Amino acid sequence: MSRRPIIAGNWKLNLTSAEGVELAREAARAARDADAAVVLFPTSLAAPSVRRALDGTPVEVGVQNVWYENKGAFTGEISPALALAEGLTWAIVGHSERRRIFGESDELAGRKAAAATAEGMKVILCVGETLEERQAGETLEVVRRQLEAGVIPVRAEPLPESLVIAYEPVWAIGTGRTASPEDAQEVHAFIRGWFRERFGEREAEATRILYGGSVKAANIAGLMAMPDIDGALVGGASLKADEFCAIIRYKEL
Ligand code: 13P
Repeated sequence: MSRRPIIAGNWKLNLTSAEGVELAREAARAARDADAAVVLFPTSLAAPSVRRALDGTPVEVGVQNVWYENKGAFTGEISPALALAEGLTWAIVGHSERRRIFGESDELAGRKAAAATAEGMKVILCVGETLEERQAGETLEVVRRQLEAGVIPVRAEPLPESLVIAYEPVWAIGTGRTASPEDAQEVHAFIRGWFRERFGEREAEATRILYGGSVKAANIAGLMAMPDIDGALVGGASLKADEFCAIIRYKEL
């Protein structure tokens, strides 16, 4: 089965609306006849402007985080319904920065993923081990635990279209230290195996599993050559137009 790759840019806490709109226009040009679908994750402040600037292009825009209730007394939060009302169709859930800096649990990631998909959003659920966990040989155990907590609550929804997994080893994020294609492939194959075990062959084959962690133009092709790597969630390199456009068009590198 062929899975359409996704190249996603997670801008984290960077770029004003004006800067984002400019970068998004360049990304849209690169995306025009690219193989991969392109999704951008600006800050929540910039996301609506970026979304409007992309009207008439296939590039989609999402939010980097979302709460699990649609409205109410939740100061500082944004919800799936409000994101969708702005045309923001994707949400990142369970990013390691949310887990580590903001203390979000595996269980909270599951609640958010379930609420967002139930509302009709598409979710990128992030999983991945820390350096200590890798060194202790716990990588697959950690990833399994995060999948159980993050994916099982979403189960009532049609999975492969609305739930994408991103394997982001914490030690590779923002460090310039990418997992080798072979190391990443090992975990991606494990994740697909987990889907197979839980939901069967068809869903396992249809589920997209992205890699994230110091992806750049120089390493994207090697990663994408792996059978279970279906795209990338790009941080730092998604902020530079030339670099990100080259990643979008990785087939031509
Ligand atoms: P970097 O590409 O900057 O390592 O960030 C990866 C990431 O966290 C994407 O969500």
